[in-house]
Amino acid sequence: MRVVTGNKIEEINKQKFQEMTGGYSRVEIDLGTGDGRFVYKNALLRKDTLFIGVDPAEKQLEIYSKKAAKEKVQNLIYVVSSFEMLPSELRETADKIYVSFPWGTLLENIVKPTKGGLDKLLELLKEKGELEIILGYAQELEPSETKRLNLPPIHLGLINDIIVPAFEDRSFHAKEFYEMSKEQLGGVETTWAKKLRFGRDRKIYKLVFSK
Ligand SMILES: C[S@@+](CC[C@H](N)C(=O)[O-])C[C@H]1O[C@@H](n2cnc3c(N)ncnc32)[C@H](O)[C@@H]1O
Repeated sequence: MRVVTGNKIEEINKQKFQEMTGGYSRVEIDLGTGDGRFVYKNALLRKDTLFIGVDPAEKQLEIYSKKAAKEKVQNLIYVVSSFEMLPSELRETADKIYVSFPWGTLLENIVKPTKGGLDKLLELLKEKGELEIILGYAQELEPSETKRLNLPPIHLGLINDIIVPAFEDRSFHAKEFYEMSKEQLGGVETTWAKKLRFGRDRKIYKLVFSK
């Protein structure tokens, strides 16, 4: 799989990846990590966990990867990949997956869940692993993306009636889902959460599942 370290890209094989994960008690993956702020911040706080940020946008990944390389943060890997093309090395590695404020087909796969898409998420997780999703799109604030992907308006009814049952059908267990307040958003260490906290009001939802 392709890994960004600073502004360098290298190919890591399964054996090398296993060596990298070896010494850690947990592995947590942030899918659609963007600039990688979330995994960087968490890697500094929890040294026993290997954090893996995944995003197709290589230039975005370089932002926090350069910082991490300079500071020699060891428990952090940035992988260039999309949800559709996830490297096989990541299969059944994650104790936890985060998907925060997804866009594009990653978002589409969550709000219009299909068996194939949900199985991809399941495949990443270890037994009893957890999946934490934060959604915050709005038709009136992102009209072109909503139209392009034909996204349904997001509200608790959609989550309750469509999203959660589809996840449960693929053997995810819904632990909790709720609307987040701006204060709760303040505790989420992603760049997008910081932007939305001070932006126009919109509904934000958190969904937590376990395998
Ligand atoms: C709004 S940004 C959020 C980034 C970060 N999670 C945050 O909260 O700051 C959405 C991210 O989803 C990524 N994305 C879009 N489609 C994707 C896909 N198919 N697979 C993985 N990531 C995707 C984009 O590259 C972008 O970085």
